[in-house]
Amino acid sequence: MMSSPTEQLEELFSLVTAADKYASISPDLIREIGAKELAKRRNLKEAVKETRNKLHQVGSAYQEKPIPYSAWLDELKDLPNDLHDEQVKTTLKRQMSMHASTAERLSILPHVFNDALGSIAPLHSILDLACGLNPLCLPWMPAAAEVEYTACDIYADMTGYLNHYFEHFKINGSAFVCDLTQTIPQNSVQVALLLKTIPCLDQVDKNAAKHLLAALKAKYILVSFPAHSLGGKSKGMLQNYETRFNQLTEGESWKITKMDFTGELAFMIEK
Ligand SMILES: C[S@@+](CC[C@H](N)C(=O)[O-])C[C@H]1O[C@@H](n2cnc3c(N)ncnc32)[C@H](O)[C@@H]1O
Repeated sequence: MMSSPTEQLEELFSLVTAADKYASISPDLIREIGAKELAKRRNLKEAVKETRNKLHQVGSAYQEKPIPYSAWLDELKDLPNDLHDEQVKTTLKRQMSMHASTAERLSILPHVFNDALGSIAPLHSILDLACGLNPLCLPWMPAAAEVEYTACDIYADMTGYLNHYFEHFKINGSAFVCDLTQTIPQNSVQVALLLKTIPCLDQVDKNAAKHLLAALKAKYILVSFPAHSLGGKSKGMLQNYETRFNQLTEGESWKITKMDFTGELAFMIEK
């Protein structure tokens, strides 16, 4: 007997998440991509393969090796709880080198957030969307001591670790799993960060980024795009991303400032 679309989707979900690499990813995102692939592909096997490919492109590709969160938790316990301690900052930089996106930012860490956000400092509430390991940059951000830091990404193991990080350093923060193509956090904040993520959202749903920018309850949104691909190619990318950003903000009466955010194409939106 043929299985129903719901049964097929659940079978796809079990097969995809049987691989460790995808087991921590938001079930909402896996099911969303899976349902589209089941509709497009000839059979379950092809749909599973294409779902895994897409999850790799939007998530796993940035984590070349599995991130050793349980070892990091042990490491965290032995660290002083002062975020500005030199040993702490060295450890955070080493951890950030395990995610391709924050690894790229390490050399400019001392000035990049001051350059981009200094004019609205001190930051008192931050919503870090599709955060990766970016919340570990907090010691280098022009933030108030009691800043409220909310972060989300598609990985449960990553957001779990970030919650331990917030707790250890007594940061007023929380991290949670969220597929931004389906759910838009509704926290009212001073600044939302949407760094290097629009191309990932576009791969799943071309309408998601426009809805997201419009629905965020943030006074400022710092948006950036990567200046080159993970493979190092950069030809035409900046121009294409600037065109994409202009499409996304067309018709809105927001104040937009192109920012100096070395290595990334960045814009500050003031709503
Ligand atoms: C290029 S990385 C950027 C990470 C971080 N914002 C930074 O700049 O360092 C893209 C991030 O988007 C996350 N991501 C991909 N698709 C997502 C989705 N649908 N919803 C939320 N996060 C997503 C990935 O897990 C990854 O951490």
